[in-house]
Amino acid sequence: VEIDDYLKEKKEVVEAELDSLLPPSQEYPETIHESLRYSVFVGGKRIRPILAISSYEACGGDDLERFLPLACSLELIHTFSFIHDDLPCMDDDDYRRGAKTSHLVFGEAVALLAGDALFNMAFEVILGSQFDDTTKVRVMEEISSSVGTRGVIGGQVIDVISEGEEPTPEKLEFIHSKKTGKLIEASLTIGAICAKVPSEKISWMGQAGSKLGLAFQIVDDLLDIEGDFDVVGKRGGKDSFHGKLTYPALYGVQRSREMAQDLRDEAKSIFERFGKKGEILSGLTDFIVDRVY
Ligand code: IPE
Ligand code: IPE
Ligand code: MG
Ligand code: MG
Ligand code: MG
Repeated sequence: VEIDDYLKEKKEVVEAELDSLLPPSQEYPETIHESLRYSVFVGGKRIRPILAISSYEACGGDDLERFLPLACSLELIHTFSFIHDDLPCMDDDDYRRGAKTSHLVFGEAVALLAGDALFNMAFEVILGSQFDDTTKVRVMEEISSSVGTRGVIGGQVIDVISEGEEPTPEKLEFIHSKKTGKLIEASLTIGAICAKVPSEKISWMGQAGSKLGLAFQIVDDLLDIEGDFDVVGKRGGKDSFHGKLTYPALYGVQRSREMAQDLRDEAKSIFERFGKKGEILSGLTDFIVDRVY
C-alpha cells in the first residue's frame, strides 16, 4: 500500500514535468509534436524515472526539482525505444499502452521520426538541466552507452535477428539484459551519480539495476503469455508468434517466474546496503516482479 502511494505520487510529478518538457501539440510541425505527446501520455508506469528518483533519494539526493528533468529523460528514451520496437520491420505491434501504436496513428515515417526526436530530446533535456557540467557529462555518458550497441540497440539487434532460433541461456541473458536491463541499470546509476555518492555506491546501484532489469524483462515475457490484454495494454502471444527467444520458451513459465524471483532477492539484498533509505527501492523491486501490467 505504501509503495502504491509512492508510485502514484511520483508518477504525477514525472508526468507534470514531461508535460512541461515536450513542445505543445499546436507547435509547427504539429504532427510530430502530437505524435510525441500521444506516445508519452497515452499510458505507462513511468518505472524508469521513478527508479531513478528513488535511487537519487536513497543516496541522499535532496533536490528533486533539479533531478526531475534527468529522470524524465529516461522516459523519453524508453518511449523512443518502444515506438521503434513496435514498427512493422521490428515486432509489428498494433497496441501499446492500451492504444494503437504510433505508426498506425501517424504513419510509419512520422513514428520513425518521433522515436528519433525523443532520443535527441533526452539529451537536450539533460544539457538544459541545472546540474554542473561534470555531472551532466557523466549522466550523458551513462545513458548514451546504455542505449548503444553495447546496450539497448545491441540487445534489440540480437532479438530481431534470432527469431526462430533455438534459445540458449547465454543468448537469452544477453538479449534481455541489454534490450531492457541496460536502461534500468542506467536509471539507478544516474540517481546515484547525481546524489554524488562515492563510486562504490554508484556501482552497487548499477549491480542491483542489472539484476532488476533482467527480472523486468523475464516478467515482460511472462506477461506476453499470461497477461490480460485489457490490463497489459499490448497484444499477447506475440513472442511465440514471432519465434522470439524468451525465458518461458527455454525454461518454461514456472522456472522463469522463479528466476525472476531469485533476481529480485539479489537486487533487494543490494538495496539493503542503503539501510532504511533503500526500502522504497526494495518495494519497487517487488512491484516490478509481481506486476500484472
Ligand atoms: C515495456 O516497458 C517495454 C520493455 C522494455 C519491456 P514497460 O513495461 O515499462 O512499459 P510502460 O512504460 O509501463 O508502458
Ligand atoms: C522490448 O522488448 C525492449 C525495448 C527496447 C522496447 P519487447 O519487444 O519484449 O517489449 P514489448 O513486449 O514490445 O513491450
Ligand atoms: Mg521487441
Ligand atoms: Mg515488442
Ligand atoms: Mg515483450
